[in-house]
This record gives sequence, structure tokens and C-alpha cells, in this order.
Amino acid sequence: MNIAVIGAGYVGLTTAACLAEIGHGVVCADIDASKISQLNSGGIPFYEPHLLELVQKNRRSGLLRFTDRTEEAISNGSAIFICVGTPPLQNGEADMTFIERAARTICNEADSSRLVIEKSTVPVQTGRQLQKYFEIYRSRSSFRHDVVSNPEFLREGSAVEDFFHPDRIVVGCESEEAAKRMREIYRPLLDGTCLCPVHRSRHEGVPPPLVLTDINSAELIKHAANSFLAMKISFINMIADLCEAADADVEKVAQGLGLDRRIGPSFLRPGIGFGGFCFPKDLQAFVTIAAKFGCDFSLLKEVEQINLNRVERFVNRVKDELWVLRGKRIGVWGLSFKPETDDIRFAPALSIIRRFQQEGAEIQAYDPQAMTKAGSELHNVRFCENPYEAAAGAEALLALTEWKEFQEVDLSRVRSLMARPLLVDGRNMFCPEDIIARGFEYIGVGRRPLVRELTA
Ligand code: UGA
Repeated sequence: MNIAVIGAGYVGLTTAACLAEIGHGVVCADIDASKISQLNSGGIPFYEPHLLELVQKNRRSGLLRFTDRTEEAISNGSAIFICVGTPPLQNGEADMTFIERAARTICNEADSSRLVIEKSTVPVQTGRQLQKYFEIYRSRSSFRHDVVSNPEFLREGSAVEDFFHPDRIVVGCESEEAAKRMREIYRPLLDGTCLCPVHRSRHEGVPPPLVLTDINSAELIKHAANSFLAMKISFINMIADLCEAADADVEKVAQGLGLDRRIGPSFLRPGIGFGGFCFPKDLQAFVTIAAKFGCDFSLLKEVEQINLNRVERFVNRVKDELWVLRGKRIGVWGLSFKPETDDIRFAPALSIIRRFQQEGAEIQAYDPQAMTKAGSELHNVRFCENPYEAAAGAEALLALTEWKEFQEVDLSRVRSLMARPLLVDGRNMFCPEDIIARGFEYIGVGRRPLVRELTA
């Protein structure tokens, strides 16, 4: 099928490249001309594993093209995926400006009926708004632009893999014809016949279920999924606090909890809190839209508040140990909001660094991918070439993103470089016993701290 993708951000670019990979002809548009020129010169504007190879391969085969003229993509695509941003407004609502702009261009430029698929995360009833919009503004009354909600569940850092191995494909639509065309688009995934470029294998086991719903329900599934996952994280973080106070080990508690199949083991990793451009903004947007419909989602307000408190709690814990922060050198490992991405939006690491700087600490940091982006957000941070340089001379080393690289460093060398070998593990990515055996002091989250005590 010929497909247009509007928006070449994390969602749009991954969707465009993966749709091309499963055989569709895709034109991906973005109004940011510099992004498009980067894509047309064979690069990609952010780091995402496997994406660059997919983009390059499908550009070469001619299945994937990029343009900064949205109308060009629209005239080429019988199905149009809207993948533009829905950033948060001051009041927590999602900003629909880019969605509306995409809809207007579709009305102006489509020369026949189109299938319009909203993939951006949007509040419930956006599809309904779009349908009404198309009826009012379509260029000919005979055109029928069918609206579908097809939320994405791609995680940054494993987005390509998630596209090829989804837990489910959710399609919200109001017509049999729209459902049929969505089945056609995802046929290679639904039949398990496509080759996953990450594992270079076909789908093993049962192919993903297609969840067919009305549009409102599909939109709600997306917000509810992200909110539920965020709730799990805040829940385990509260358990971590309780473990610290009651002298228990949160990792053991999480294991015992997660083995209950009704609960499940994922998203029970405690730490400095969730970040990124999805959970924080989607929670806010969900609370706001629920309030509009008369539902006070105070449960999710608390999830948000618990998450905000993580940063302060972490800083205070380090402060308790180091006593005075002014003039102290602090090493930081990890800046991105999670590993395998260079995305620093709402990254807890950045908030933590700013708080330490307010207290007068000197920060030296290393991240495998996110330093360029962090450089334009942070001031007076010394960015280092490698994890060792970030540890050198430091009175504490803060591990803030669980990159694999940090688990593979030579810890004895790190220890020998530090002024005080104190490792503060904001993600519980290290085994405390290993760390202690190498002569470190160790503070984790929800675990008993192993630090130097008074001898007398
Ligand atoms: C999230 C969802 O997982 C995707 O399904 C969804 O498509 C995406 O948002 C979106 O709406 O676009 P993402 O934000 O890329 O994906 O990353 P996650 O892996 O979900 O992690 C989010 C945050 O939670 C990270 O800061 C991570 O460190 C934190 N986290 C995650 C924890 O603190 N503990 C956990 O156990 C899991």
C-alpha cells in the first residue's frame, strides 16, 4: 500500500521505516527542513538502535522517501499516519495544534478519500473531533476520510524490535472497510511472515492479537497503558522507601511480587523515577482529560507526585552521606532518561544534576549517547570522554541511567581513581556485594546502604 507518514520524530520515523521494511511504499514528511535534509543525506536525527540501518536500506530500495512538503506525502498516500507531537500545554492538556495542522493539510491536499490513522498519543474523542473536522473542511463532499486510532506502544531504545514483536495491535475504527485496510497494512505482522530486522528471524510463537475497538476505546487504551505502567513504577518506588525504613530489600520484594502472574515482573524496577516524553506528559494529559469528563483521577495525581519526589529524596540521601556538597566533585554516569537512547526530555538525571549544582557541587558526567543533547540543556558540567574520567577525583559517583557500558567497566580502576569510592546507584544496576568486594561504599534504592560507619 502507498502510505504517508506525517511527522519524522521518534514515532513517525520508526513507523515509516518499519512500514517500508514490511513492504509498503512510504513517504514520510516533516515540516522541519533540516531534519529532512539530514534524512535525505542518509542520517537520522536521534539515536535509536537499528533504525539507521532500516532507514538507509529502505531509502536505497526506493520504498522509503522523505519530504519537507506534507502535501507531497499526502498526495502519495492512500493511508495517512499522523505521527506529530502532542506536547503538554501549561495546564497539562495535550496541545493539538500539530494534529489540527495535519488535518487541515489533508483536507486541502487530498484529491480523493483517505484512510487517516492517528498514531500520536491523543486524548479520548480526538478521533471524533477529526471526523467532524473532515466533514466540515474536506475539499469535496464526496470525499470520505475514514478515521482510525492505532496507538503506538514503542519504547525508545527498543522501538524497532517493539514494532516487529508487539504484544498487540490496537485498531479503533467505525467501519468494516477501515478495519479491512488496517489488517492489510499489518498483514505481515499478523500472519507472522515478516522478518524481524533485529533478530533476523520470523515471529516466533503466536502472532500478535489484533484488538479491534471503537475509536474512543482505542484512544483510552493508550493513555491507560502508559498510566498503569507509571503507576507500577511509583508503587515500587514507595515500596523501596518503606524497605529502606524497615530494613528490607526492595529487589527481593519486587521479585516476590512479580512472580504473581496477576502482577507480573516488568516495570517493578525502583529508582530515581520515570522520565522521557511519554509517561510524565501522558499522565498529566490523562488526568486533565478525565477531569473534563468529571472524573477526578487523584490516583494518578499521586503517581505523578511520588515520581517528582524521587529526585529530592535521592539528592538528600547523597547529601546526608557527603555532609556538605559545596565545592565537592561529583561524578555522574548516565544522562538519558533510559538506556539505548540519547533522549534527555524529562530525564531525572538532569534534574538531579541541577539540584547538586544549586548546592554548589561540581559535576563531571559521562553518557554513551546523550552528551550532545545534554550539553545544550546543562551549564557548567564537564562532559567526559569515558566513565573513568567521570569518576576521577570524585567524592561520589552517581549511576543515573543503566547503560550496559557501566556494568562492564573495570570497577577496580574506577575505585582507584576516586577521591572517595562511594557509588550511589540510582537504578539498582549493580550487585552490592560485588561493589563492596571491590572496596566501594554503596548506596542503592530500597536496599540497605553499605557505607563506612563510625568505628568508635
Ligand atoms: C513508554 C511505553 O513503555 C511505551 O509502550 C509507549 O509507546 C511510549 O512510552 C510512548 O507513549 O510513546 P518509553 O517512554 O520509551 O516508552 O520508555 P519506558 O521503557 O516505558 O520507560 C519510561 C521510564 O520509566 C524510564 O525513565 C525508565 O527508566 C522508567 N522505568 C521503567 C522505571 O523507573 N522502572 C521500571 O521498572 C521501568
